[in-house]
Amino acid sequence: MRVDIITIFPKMFAPVLEESIIKRAQAKGRVKIFVHDLRKFTQDRHRKVDDRPFGGGSGMVMSAQPIFDAVRAIKQNQRTREPKNQRTILLCPQGKRLDQQAVRRLARYKQLILICGHYEGVDERVRQFLADEEVSIGDYVLTGGELPAMVLVDTLVRLVPGVLGDKNSLNFESFEGNLLEYPHYTRPANFRGMTVPPTLLSGDHKKIESWRKKEALERTRQRRPDLLKKKRKRGEITNE
Ligand SMILES: C[S@@+](CC[C@H](N)C(=O)[O-])C[C@H]1O[C@@H](n2cnc3c(N)ncnc32)[C@H](O)[C@@H]1O
Repeated sequence: MRVDIITIFPKMFAPVLEESIIKRAQAKGRVKIFVHDLRKFTQDRHRKVDDRPFGGGSGMVMSAQPIFDAVRAIKQNQRTREPKNQRTILLCPQGKRLDQQAVRRLARYKQLILICGHYEGVDERVRQFLADEEVSIGDYVLTGGELPAMVLVDTLVRLVPGVLGDKNSLNFESFEGNLLEYPHYTRPANFRGMTVPPTLLSGDHKKIESWRKKEALERTRQRRPDLLKKKRKRGEITNE
């Protein structure tokens, strides 16, 4: 998978992309991530990438020209040119809210181009004529699209085959199959009088598996009944 990020603050990305699992995924060649400075694409001689909104009002709007030219240059520059392999995404609080299902869908593309907005947002024509879709990371407003882009990249990278060391660690995770994950414990079995459920110490794998299933279901029922509704709709559970 290849991800191209278009931003006016390229330096923001290094601390996230150059650490931990994302760093290792790049080193192993599982994922290629390129950060592009939007200012390099502006035709304005002062390297301006924004302008005042038509119709007046407060704040600035990011201009269409540098964003259109950046996306065009990125698309021309790489090998996965087939449109069905590419997706151009505008990070935007008005977009569809990101969830694990959307992450799984997006992870199937060979190349994602992420556009980070700022100020009042981007010229509407970017949304209408350039972006394939808009993604929001939640119902709140951040100052820019950089943190949302990093969130999206992090969620995607861990789904790329071979990135997570233990292949089982993706099997039963929160939101996979519309359930929250069961609780985890590690040594010691008794920490200051707080003990671990005996089943987990029993060595009986069948019992452990059924305990985990029950806990996952119970947890989801308590914290996210909306997920169970989805599960029921799909016929994955018939009674609770
Ligand atoms: C201050 S916001 C613009 C908000 C815009 N005026 C509105 O009310 O919809 C600036 C940029 O931050 C990014 N952004 C802010 N909140 C976001 C969110 N929840 N999800 C994704 N991107 C977000 C977008 O790229 C957006 O263009």
